[in-house]
This record gives sequence, C-alpha cells and structure tokens, in this order.
Amino acid sequence: MSKLFTPLKIRNVETKNRLWVSPMCMYSCENQDGVVTDFHLAHLGSFAIGGAGLVMAEATGVNPEARITPWCTGIWNQQQVEAWKPITKLIKDMGSDKRHPARSRRPQGL
Ligand SMILES: Cc1cc2nc3c(=O)[nH]c(=O)nc-3n(C[C@H](O)[C@H](O)[C@H](O)COP(=O)(O)O)c2cc1C
Repeated sequence: MSKLFTPLKIRNVETKNRLWVSPMCMYSCENQDGVVTDFHLAHLGSFAIGGAGLVMAEATGVNPEARITPWCTGIWNQQQVEAWKPITKLIKDMGSDKRHPARSRRPQGL
C-alpha cells in the first residue's frame, strides 16, 4: 500500500494521511476586515471533505498591518476568531487537521 495514505505523526500532530493542502492566500475578505466568510468555509472545507489529512489555512494576520493585502484573513479580534470556528469544526469533523502557516507575520515584512 502507498505510504501516501498512511498516518503521519510529527511531534504532537498526527494526520490520517500524508495528503496536505498548502496554504493559499485567497484575498477574499470582501469587507477588508480580516473576517473569514462562507467563501473560506467552502474553499477550505472542500479539501477536508475531499479527504486531505491536513488543511493549512492561508497566511493570517495577527494585526492589521501584518496582512499582505486588505483582503487577507485576520485573527486579531474576537469577531475573526468566532468566524474561524465553523471552518475549524468542519475540517475537524471530516477527520482532518487545520493549521495556520504564517500566524505571526510582522509589520513591514520584517
Ligand atoms: C496563490 C498562492 C497563494 C499562496 N499563499 C500562501 C500563504 O498564504 N501562505 C503560505 O505560507 N504560502 C502560500 N503559498 C505558497 C504555497 O503554499 C506553497 O508553498 C507553494 O505553492 C509550493 O509551491 P511548490 O510546490 O512549487 O514549491 C501560496 C502559493 C500560491 C500559488
């Protein structure tokens, strides 16, 4: 059997297979408020429904200045945290894991 479909454990993270979705900035927060929407739910959730073992969310700013563009996702206020929850829940319910790749990008790209 291909190793691709076998679990992988790295430190305390174990994924059900080795199909990992790379992070992809989608520039789709239409209100420029960093709050994820149904678009992000459908985009990220579809990978989990498709069977990916790990879904990495896009680069997500920890403050407004950390974003690459005004349409990028954020996680610096509670409204944004709440909006991420259904996405995380769907992905977990599908048996996948979700991680943020670039959760602490600094202002001015330093
Ligand atoms: C449209 C697009 C958006 C991307 N957004 C991110 C991102 O938000 N965060 C990140 O760490 N990498 C991002 N990447 C990089 C990819 O996750 C991935 O590392 C890269 O596409 C791998 O390319 P390679 O297989 O050709 O080396 C992005 C890539 C593309 C094409």
